Amino acid sequence: MKVLNFGSLNIDYVYDVEHFVQKGETISSTALKVFSGGKGLNQSVAFSKAGADIYHAGMIGTDGTFLKEILKETGVKVDYVKQAETVRTGNAIIQNDRQGDNCIILYGGANQTISKKFVEEVFRGFESGDWLVIQNEINENPYIVECAHKKGMKVVLNPSPMNEKIFDINLKYVDCFILNEGEGKVLAGNDLQGEELLDELKKKFPHTTIVLTLGERGSVYADENNTVYQKAYKVKTVDTTAAGDTFTGYFISGRLQGMPVKQSLELAAKASAITVTGKGAAPSIPWMEEVLKCDFE
Ligand code: RIB
Repeated sequence: MKVLNFGSLNIDYVYDVEHFVQKGETISSTALKVFSGGKGLNQSVAFSKAGADIYHAGMIGTDGTFLKEILKETGVKVDYVKQAETVRTGNAIIQNDRQGDNCIILYGGANQTISKKFVEEVFRGFESGDWLVIQNEINENPYIVECAHKKGMKVVLNPSPMNEKIFDINLKYVDCFILNEGEGKVLAGNDLQGEELLDELKKKFPHTTIVLTLGERGSVYADENNTVYQKAYKVKTVDTTAAGDTFTGYFISGRLQGMPVKQSLELAAKASAITVTGKGAAPSIPWMEEVLKCDFE
């Protein structure tokens, strides 16, 4: 069984600021750092660091060669990372405030130049029983999910960042959603929270596994028969970027390696807690060894 993550690769420009810039305001940042990022790349890194055999598919520009190198060094298979000649690599302008919170502006770049032909080439390497993981930072997601379904692959959707394009995907083909409350509200079409939101999502997608992350309140897993809760671990937050990506990579990787739901949730919660204690997206994602050693209560 193989895992294909068809997703974004970004160059993250991270500006440390006292507060997020307001309308009409010009502020100075106290530091600028450049990191590898993109929800797709971050999740592939998390999968690999959690011990999964993961293939990344996506597009970079000529300025993004280092992103492919980083994936490779982390053990991700990069045969399907393609370089475009005439577009820039996707990038993210990230403001990181004193509390460690962030806000992000995305430039899609090469991430938005996926062609159907490229999608077809990639899927030739996968078969029934393999898994597809996607987020919402590339074009052609509806076709990608269509191809995975035709092949008999299982589909995991992390609908992040949430926007109307999610509804172009045939959501009936999704086997597992991993999402936060903001994303869940849009998907459910209501303004509920926590348990009530989960109930609505279960009504709307009765045969789909749902993993709802609740920030400081932890996370909850629900399938047709079981509901499993997980607390969040308290740590000193430096930068929240990639916490959700770490959770997704670790949770799914745990499940695919045969771990029970509770153990996979626990590892995912610990790994994402470690991620928020470090700067940057992909570089702050821990290896399994560190997660297993951590003594969070
Ligand atoms: O989830 C974090 C990621 O979102 C960042 O790395 C940035 O690139 C944006 O895609």
